[in-house]
Amino acid sequence: MEKSGMSRRDFIKSAALVGAMLGVSPVVGGCAAKLAGGESSSGRHTGENGGLPHRTLGTGSAALEVSALGFGCMGLNHHRSRHPDKNMAIRLVHEAIDRGVTLFDTAESYGPYINEELVGEALKGYAGKVSVSSKFGHKYVNGKRVMSEEDSSPANIRKVCEESLRRLGVETLAIFYQHRADPNTPIEVVAETVKELIREGKVRHFGLCEVNADTIRRAHAIQPVTAIQSEYHLMHRAVEKSILPLCGELGIGFVPYSPLNRGFLGGSLNEYTVFDAANDNRQTLPRFTPEAMRANLRIVEVLHAFGRTRGITAAQIALAWLLNKKPWIVPIPGTTKPAHLAENLYAADIRFTPAEMKELEDAVAAIPIVGSRYNAEQEAKVQN
Ligand SMILES: NC(=O)c1ccc[n+]([C@@H]2O[C@H](COP(=O)([O-])OP(=O)(O)OC[C@H]3O[C@@H](n4cnc5c(N)ncnc54)[C@H](OP(=O)(O)O)[C@@H]3O)[C@@H](O)[C@H]2O)c1
Repeated sequence: MEKSGMSRRDFIKSAALVGAMLGVSPVVGGCAAKLAGGESSSGRHTGENGGLPHRTLGTGSAALEVSALGFGCMGLNHHRSRHPDKNMAIRLVHEAIDRGVTLFDTAESYGPYINEELVGEALKGYAGKVSVSSKFGHKYVNGKRVMSEEDSSPANIRKVCEESLRRLGVETLAIFYQHRADPNTPIEVVAETVKELIREGKVRHFGLCEVNADTIRRAHAIQPVTAIQSEYHLMHRAVEKSILPLCGELGIGFVPYSPLNRGFLGGSLNEYTVFDAANDNRQTLPRFTPEAMRANLRIVEVLHAFGRTRGITAAQIALAWLLNKKPWIVPIPGTTKPAHLAENLYAADIRFTPAEMKELEDAVAAIPIVGSRYNAEQEAKVQN
């Protein structure tokens, strides 16, 4: 028996049971939503790699094959309020690997540092079997974030790379993303620096977060980009205008972050939710005030209604909607719970018809969204 009072085998068994209760009944008559193969009657994917389907981010030399859904590791110990202890978090990462997840996303700034350390410990022994992505670009002085500035200078990119490799305990980062654009460093210089790191074998692929189409084109011309990681979900669709079409044109993959709108689309947040003042950035976001959440719950209700006749949950609908948008989209939901992990991965098997996609989009679009996604300071750092 381990420290938390639950053995690894018990943990996995209970996760499978809860997962089975949550989302396994095949879709019933009359509904167009369809499940694709690889699902056992226990709700667990079967076959190679846990049976989770794979997708490819990027093309040519920039191509990276990963599971259709990755795992956003941030909330395991950063910015998502109280969290399980380290041993439970590590067991959850192992459960994700057992279920076929091959992409794990973290960043220097999560903590800072402690998230990479946790992920490094969890992924010990899995080198070459899973891919880990991390990010550079925020400015730190003595471990303290300088909010007014970003730092994508070549020296800082190299420093973050070395430190991330050490904390993660790997020889190469599968994707190294610029976290936010740095107005003081031209994107060509950033791309050139990452290109050198790729040549040196320290990084396999290049990614960018929250950048505009012009930045993507300029970066891609120097070092082919594997993935754009930006916010995308049913309550924030800005990337559909120019970013997704450009990704399609250039053969770049897309990784939606916060695919459940930071948990809101999963349906377990409401006006009474109290965020941990010391560890949750949602309390700084206009869309997460009690008033905004009360109003926006109408959107979650649309998902509940849509799922009721299809045997699927709000979180599964939100993730399946993204997966059905493009075959090169790989969402990275975060969770601290085995039950949510099982529920979320099930989305990889849900197919919506174009009519269902439209029905869902129309129903959500009919509801005005209250509160912007970022406050003014955060908004100033994104290019979309
Ligand atoms: N590039 C960037 O700038 C950027 C920014 C933000 C995030 N990210 C990345 O994106 C990842 C995910 O983002 P995120 O954590 O902000 O948002 P998210 O994945 O949309 O939401 C995570 C929240 O959803 C809850 N949740 C998960 N599955 C659920 C389910 N089935 N039902 C109900 N609630 C559920 C989780 O709570 P439980 O623990 O209770 O399940 C957690 O608090 C991060 O880990 C990070 O890697 C990147």
